[in-house]
Amino acid sequence: MTTTELPTTPVRPAPRPIDPEKLMAFVFRAVDEVGASLNTALVVMGDALGYYRTMADGASITPSELAERTGTDEHYAREWLAAQAAGNYLDYDPATRTYTLPAEQAAALTDETSPAYLPGFFQLTHGTVRDAAAVIGAARTGDGIGWHAHNGDVHVGCERFFRTMYNAHLIGEWLPALEGVVEKLERGATVADVGCGHGASTILMARTFPRSTFVGSDYHEGSIAIARRRAEQAGVADRVRFEVAPATEFTGSGHDLVTTFDALHDMGDPVGAARHVRHTLADDGTWMIVEPMAGDHVEDNLNPVGRAYYGFSTLLCTPASLSQDVGLALGTQAGPARIRDVATTAGFRRFAAVANTPFNNVLEVRP
Ligand SMILES: C[S@@+](CC[C@H](N)C(=O)[O-])C[C@H]1O[C@@H](n2cnc3c(N)ncnc32)[C@H](O)[C@@H]1O
Repeated sequence: MTTTELPTTPVRPAPRPIDPEKLMAFVFRAVDEVGASLNTALVVMGDALGYYRTMADGASITPSELAERTGTDEHYAREWLAAQAAGNYLDYDPATRTYTLPAEQAAALTDETSPAYLPGFFQLTHGTVRDAAAVIGAARTGDGIGWHAHNGDVHVGCERFFRTMYNAHLIGEWLPALEGVVEKLERGATVADVGCGHGASTILMARTFPRSTFVGSDYHEGSIAIARRRAEQAGVADRVRFEVAPATEFTGSGHDLVTTFDALHDMGDPVGAARHVRHTLADDGTWMIVEPMAGDHVEDNLNPVGRAYYGFSTLLCTPASLSQDVGLALGTQAGPARIRDVATTAGFRRFAAVANTPFNNVLEVRP
């Protein structure tokens, strides 16, 4: 366990008039946010211990029943249930002293096939916050922190979070939004998925388009080892190859499609990566860039999704970019105009925003 280093001399701001009502409103909002911060760990706990899954049927339950059914200690189950009820994740009935998980929460917290499935988002957040002490140090020096340097909850949580969106949108909406790409994939195309992490997107595309071949690449060896196992398990390893390579060096040429899913802004040298994509892409090929939802200006992103993404940008994505050569540090909320600059600087001529969700921008880039 680490302790955050604080300044030794307390800073006293110059006195300014204070509205006591606004001050108290802010204090109570902050109390709610502290509760929400702790709830990140509580959701991970509920997911890991099977609390939510045990309650998914909507039946009311007491702390001792939950403890018994999950093989856990009743004291922990009791406090966890009360904390969840205080945050409106559960309903509480004082007459019977029982708790129930509403159907919507059950879908979002237990149903892996739901587009609203959330545990990965919480696991990613929990892992990210645990590594924040290193970020405070890096902000003092300007050093970066590579993706590989994070704890496994960051990698696994990221995959679970993004996989939910790829399952919901990639095949039915995003690929069809690209001109002529689905037809090529159906006939048999070559595809490079760059910065593929655990390969969720690569494997999903491979399962859907059995005539096409895929190469997924990522600079992080640990992620590629997992991606290879996942391809074996999915029965697509004969058409999917995974390689450890930075985005400026992945192999192959004449690709019909290159994809980067939520990875371009993490790279130190996105322009170098874009040049390499151009070099390995067929002249009539397409580069699909999926980036976190963002507008081009800070004021466009001052909303709940932007807030979460600026948080990840500060603690995860910007340090990742700064840890690599060039260290452009686009930031998670770079926005389409900045991504277009990256692509056109690398020699691409055509650029279009073709789809979006509350969490993603999908961009079509062509020579
Ligand atoms: C936010 S994760 C997304 C992973 C995956 N595409 C997904 O959607 O689950 C960003 C990924 O970019 C990879 N990455 C960062 N810099 C890279 C670089 N220069 N070359 C290749 N991969 C890189 C990281 O290792 C990480 O797997």
